[in-house]
Amino acid sequence: MRFTMTTQAPSGDFLDLPWATPLAEWTETRLVDVRSRGIHRHVVRFVEMGDEIYALKEIPERVARKEYSLLRWLGERGIPAVDVIGVVFARGSEMDAVLVTRYLEFSLSYRVLFTGKRELDLLDRVLDALVQLLARLHLGGFFWGDCSLSNTLFRRDAGTFEACLVDTETAEVRPALSNGLRQYDLDMATENVAGELADLGAGGMLPEHIDPFAVADAIARRYERLWDELTRDEVFTADEQRYRIATRLRRLNDLGFDVDEIDIVATPEGNRLKVRTSVAEPGNNRRLLLMRTGLDVQENQARRLLNDVASFRAYLEQHEGRKVSETVAANRWLSDVYEPIMDAIPPSLEDKREPGEIFHEILVHRWFLSEQSGRDVGTTHAARSYVTNVLPFASE
Ligand SMILES: Nc1ncnc2c1ncn2[C@@H]1O[C@H](COP(=O)(O)OP(=O)(O)O)[C@@H](O)[C@H]1O
Ligand SMILES: [Mg+2]
Repeated sequence: MRFTMTTQAPSGDFLDLPWATPLAEWTETRLVDVRSRGIHRHVVRFVEMGDEIYALKEIPERVARKEYSLLRWLGERGIPAVDVIGVVFARGSEMDAVLVTRYLEFSLSYRVLFTGKRELDLLDRVLDALVQLLARLHLGGFFWGDCSLSNTLFRRDAGTFEACLVDTETAEVRPALSNGLRQYDLDMATENVAGELADLGAGGMLPEHIDPFAVADAIARRYERLWDELTRDEVFTADEQRYRIATRLRRLNDLGFDVDEIDIVATPEGNRLKVRTSVAEPGNNRRLLLMRTGLDVQENQARRLLNDVASFRAYLEQHEGRKVSETVAANRWLSDVYEPIMDAIPPSLEDKREPGEIFHEILVHRWFLSEQSGRDVGTTHAARSYVTNVLPFASE
């Protein structure tokens, strides 16, 4: 038996697992059940080792090696995908290999999302996340070949979702992606999502008025809108130039993308702006928050938290009548605002949301309560009310 692992390999007891037995026949005590997954072909099982859970997928060695390298490729570029640990092969004659990935914490399959309490705009937010992921992949030259809800996991990110790629079995990387391949991915997404939504509908998990086929058809339109924003050339006069470039860059940053290169070409009809866009990595806000506070959260959550640090800093300066540095403000915010609130979350509710998402939801709740009572209720009060009235009833 051979095991190829990345440098972030798990502990040695991984080697004690019964690799010589087909995955379906394992009776390991370390196996755990992971709830309601999407449509899949292979045997996939989950094991708990130490405080981590790993996903094991039994597939032919050639495919496993390919998935291993594609998942690493994605990881290196900061494109959301499951974290790959290794491939186990040479398990015995006629035995397939096993691809080992880390179980994505706080990730939700679309089936779990749709069986939970009905959330506002759930379907819209899920499809937006899927389209974002597809555009990111395509910008990098990554052809998916099997875009579907089942091959994606979703994580909450300040009220939106982030889609993470799970299954790269059919994928390929090219120096640049032709329009034909992008179209193929879109057709595949449309067909797969229609099937998956129809399946949810048949199980009574979709609101009645939703037509799975119409919704799936709209995926291409959502994608084209985003793709156009990311890649189109713009023509403008010299006077407009600075302002038009600034606006375009800000829009791209807001969408979570960076601009690698800007080209301005003079043409008879005006100056043509060409941009080469790439995936912003790892989110600027995320990096900044990590540097200032040591908190590692997702990009949109980080933006919210940084805003809260900034307003806390303004409050400190006003209150103390002197300038306060960003570093000092961030430290005071951690000890005076963030930590007391996080300490007040009962352990029984901690698993419902990532800490960054809890803090974001408390900020939303504070806004809501303040609106209602016509004055700022403060974060501490909002947190108390959130723990009693919101979090216990929130869907996963
Ligand atoms: N690392 C992981 N974390 C969480 N869930 C996972 C992970 N890997 C696989 N899964 C779940 O298992 C399902 C099947 O995995 P996938 O790679 O799509 O296999 P298949 O080739 O059988 O479709 C996925 O839909 C996903 O829900
Ligand atoms: Mg799959």
